[in-house]
Order: sequence, then C-alpha cells, then structure tokens
Amino acid sequence: MRQPALTSTASYQALAAHAVDARQWQMRQLFADNDQRFPQLTVDAAGLFLDYSKNRLDADTMARLIDLARERGVDTQRDAMLRGDKINLTEHRAVLHTALRLPRGKSLVIDGRDVVPDVHAVLDQVRDFTDKVRNGTWLGYSGKPITDIVNVGIGGSDLGPKMAVLALRSFAHPRLKMHFVSNVDGHDMDAALAQVNPETTLFIIASKTFTTAETMLNANTARSWFLQSATEADLARHFVAVSTNLESVKAFGIDPANMFPFWDWVGGRYSVWSAIGLSVALAVGFGYFSDFLAGAHAMDEHFREAPLEQNMPVLLAMVGFWNREFLDAGSLSIAPYHQDLNRFPAYLQQLDMESNGKRVTRGGAAVDTATCPVVWGECGTNAQHAYFQLLHQGTDITPIDFIAALRATHDLPGHHDALLANCFAQSEAFMTGKTGDEVRADLTAQKLSATEIEELVPHKTFPGNRPSNTILMDQLTPLTLGALIALYEHKTFVQGVIWDVNSFDQWGVELGKVLAKNIQAELQGEIQPARHDSSTNGLIIMAKAAQHL
Ligand code: F6P
Repeated sequence: MRQPALTSTASYQALAAHAVDARQWQMRQLFADNDQRFPQLTVDAAGLFLDYSKNRLDADTMARLIDLARERGVDTQRDAMLRGDKINLTEHRAVLHTALRLPRGKSLVIDGRDVVPDVHAVLDQVRDFTDKVRNGTWLGYSGKPITDIVNVGIGGSDLGPKMAVLALRSFAHPRLKMHFVSNVDGHDMDAALAQVNPETTLFIIASKTFTTAETMLNANTARSWFLQSATEADLARHFVAVSTNLESVKAFGIDPANMFPFWDWVGGRYSVWSAIGLSVALAVGFGYFSDFLAGAHAMDEHFREAPLEQNMPVLLAMVGFWNREFLDAGSLSIAPYHQDLNRFPAYLQQLDMESNGKRVTRGGAAVDTATCPVVWGECGTNAQHAYFQLLHQGTDITPIDFIAALRATHDLPGHHDALLANCFAQSEAFMTGKTGDEVRADLTAQKLSATEIEELVPHKTFPGNRPSNTILMDQLTPLTLGALIALYEHKTFVQGVIWDVNSFDQWGVELGKVLAKNIQAELQGEIQPARHDSSTNGLIIMAKAAQHL
C-alpha cells in the first residue's frame, strides 16, 4: 500500500501541534504533577519490563503517537510480515525471521510450502551436530575432541552470534572456546589462529550468500592454514558451512552433509535464530538455544496480540520516533548495565542502522522527515567514566536505553547492588539534572566564597530533562536475551513502517564493495590505477609504494 507523506497525515500534524508545548515540558514537573506516571508509562511482556516514563511526554502524547502508528498501518503491516507477505519490495522477499522461532507443529505457508517443518529439520541437524561436538564424540582428524570453534562471518553472520555467545557466557560449555573472525584485516585471523590447534579446531564458515569478499578471503586463509597440518580428506571434520548457497559451499570444498541451510526470507541482520546461530548452540547447547528461540517467540506473540497501546515494541518505537522527530535527537545511546551484553550496542547498530538508515520511502520518494538516528554505546559503568559527560552537559540531546538484569548470574557479593545503583542513578540524573540554586546550596554548605560559588555555578549545573528508557529483566538468560533481541527487531520494524522505508534491504553497502574490488586490483598491479580523484589516487600510490619497499 502506498503511504502518504508522513508529515501530511492528520495524526502527524496533531502530534506536531502537541509537540510545540510538549518539547518544552520539564520531566521533573511531570513527575511532581502525576504520582501515577510510573504505572502509566511502564509495560511488561515476555519477561521484560520497559519503563519509558523518563521521557519528555505524557499519556496524551502516547495516545497521539499510537494514533500515528495506527494511521501508518503498523498493525496491518505487522500482520503482513508475520504471515509472510513479500514486504521486502526491492528484493521481492518475505521477511520471516519470526518463522525461525515458531514452535514445532505450527504452520506457515510461503509460496505453497509450509516452512515450519523445514525450520525444524535444520534445528534437528543443529541439535545432532552440537550434541556430538559438545559431548566429545565429534573428533578432529587426530582423534581428539574439538576444543576451539572459529566462526568466520561478517555483519549479521558475525554480530548476532558473537553478541549472543558473550551474553550467554554463564551458560557455556567449559571445554569449548569460541572465536569470531570477521575483519578482512589479516590481523583478525592471525590473532585467532595463534590461539588454536588445527587438530582440535572447528571452523564455521557463516555466510548467507557465500560470496561476501571478506568472509571468503578469511575462509580460504583458514583452509590453507589447516591444510599445512592436515589433508583435504580431514577438512570434513573441521569445516562446516551455514549458508543459503549450496553450490558455492560445495565449490569451496565443504561436504554438503556439513552444510546447515537457511532461506532467502531471513535477512542477514535477523539471522541469529537460523543456523547462523550454530556457534551459539555449540556454546550453550541445544536446550538453551531452544530457550533463546522461545524467548523471542514469546515477544513475537506479544507483538502480534497486544493492543498497540500496551505493545512493548510499538511503545519503544514510538518513544524513539518522538525523540528523533520532535526533540531532534540524532543519536540513540545504548547502555547495558551488564558486562555480558558488551556487544549488544554493536549488534543493534547493524539491526537498526542497516534497516532504517534510508532516505527514500518504499515507493521511492524522498522521505520528508529524519529517519534512523545513529545508534552507539558501551557497557554503562564504563561509559559513565568516558562519554556520559557529554550526555549530561553537552549541547545535544541523546536519549539513552538503559538495560539491566535485576539479579546477577554470578555470586560475587556487593557487585550487583553497586551496578544497579549506578544504572538507576544515571537515569535519575539525566532526568532531574541539577539547578543553579541546588548547586549554590551545595557550595554554600561547603563554605565557598560567594565569588567562587558564582564562578562554579554554570559548570556544575546540569540541565537535566534528558530522555531515557530503562529495560529490566530478572536475569540475563537465553529466554530473556531472546525476548530482548526480538523487542528491538520489532521496534526497528515499527519505526520503518512509520517512516515508510524498506527496513529489509541494504543497497547502501554496495557502492563501497564495487569500488574496493577495483582498488584491490589496482593495489595488486593487475590493472593500472583508474582515474580516481586526486585523494584516492594519492592513497593508492602510497600503499603500493609501501608494499614494494
Ligand atoms: O554487506 C552487508 C551484508 O549483506 C549484511 O547485510 C550481511 O549481514 C553481511 O553483509 C554478511 O553477508 P553474508 O552473510 O551473505 O556473508
């Protein structure tokens, strides 16, 4: 369905009128005026709790945002995605990562074929293989069990598995050490190979297309390294592939029996639930991998069924839209207060920015508002001692998503309260700030002179009124991690619907790929340097000269 321009819709215009006043509101005042703000602006679903009360909005704003969601067809487009309509228009594909977490026995027919049995056939293959590797019956060429697993992939074939393996560290097999190589920079592969022994190492070549240049080069390097100590016949015990491209997997020399397939209706950045999650299943075992899928499925069911007003992904998306559109927030900072979610911001960068970093609508017209903010972040307590200064007192407004578990998965005393205290204190500080009078009162109590006080007041004043969400779970487990990722997947989808962009293609990465191929040939002397601009020519000449020293 062709959407009207966003700013021309009645609900957008109503919101814009409302925003004239609302963007001036002070959250301190909103909390003081309404003692029901916390229960009104929080929601729980699928083992997660979302507090969006520390945003510059109220229940009326939310009602208007939900009107917009409805007018843009969030519910109908959600249903179209979930039933397998080809909503990825530029690639003529369905978008069915949700089918990867449908329980056995459910049915979803695409192009006349029920895909759920196919999904579970691959899951069975994953279970059989991971069981053997984990229980030590899958042996390397010299008869020893596998100790090290190297996942070779990039983008969605790396970020999801790497993030999830780290996040589920407390559930991992003690013998299996996981490594991830993504960068075409040989330093990445070099560092991994330096830690592993070919006799006991399993390489997973993870690539949806099996054509991605970085992954293919890394895979060939791993293969050559392996063949320095073993034979071609040994490859089958040490190399497996996860891909949609059987022919290229065979051409690479991997036995099709060692290939874990998936389908073109799984986008790369939505693929951790497919066999791309093989490294996750190897690390935590098939039981926990199934819990991970179940956690995501619980969020899918909530997304499908909950009214928009109580629908967690919709609420998170609409609050994000409000901050982006009406507070001009050009970036979103992710602050996990959990060390094991260290890679979660990097994972969300691809999910959100590759999906919604778009400038034309699905119909090809220029968008008429800003779209996806820059997503970035770090583990919260470390971030506090690095860049939170800018978030507190800098000139831009940067909304923050705080993410924390109420209970730790370790039993070291004292740490978890300290962690949560920091998390809650930060969101409080961003909201309340500190007024000049409060600073004066503090400094007066410290007996500073009136002149010193007035010199310090502007520096020690915090404007506050800075928006944040807090997402809590009981513990970080396979179930809650699954739900958390699915929450952000659906949030991304909803924002894509509001902006009317195709969240499922990524043409923007193509140009650089093509140019890199040309320049690589030039660096290797296969073709004469093409006539680039003087900067690019100059850089190529410098690199050639350095390599021939
Ligand atoms: O170039 C971008 C991209 O296509 C991502 O969308 C994808 O996750 C990544 O490359 C890796 O692709 P593949 O799994 O096909 O190697």
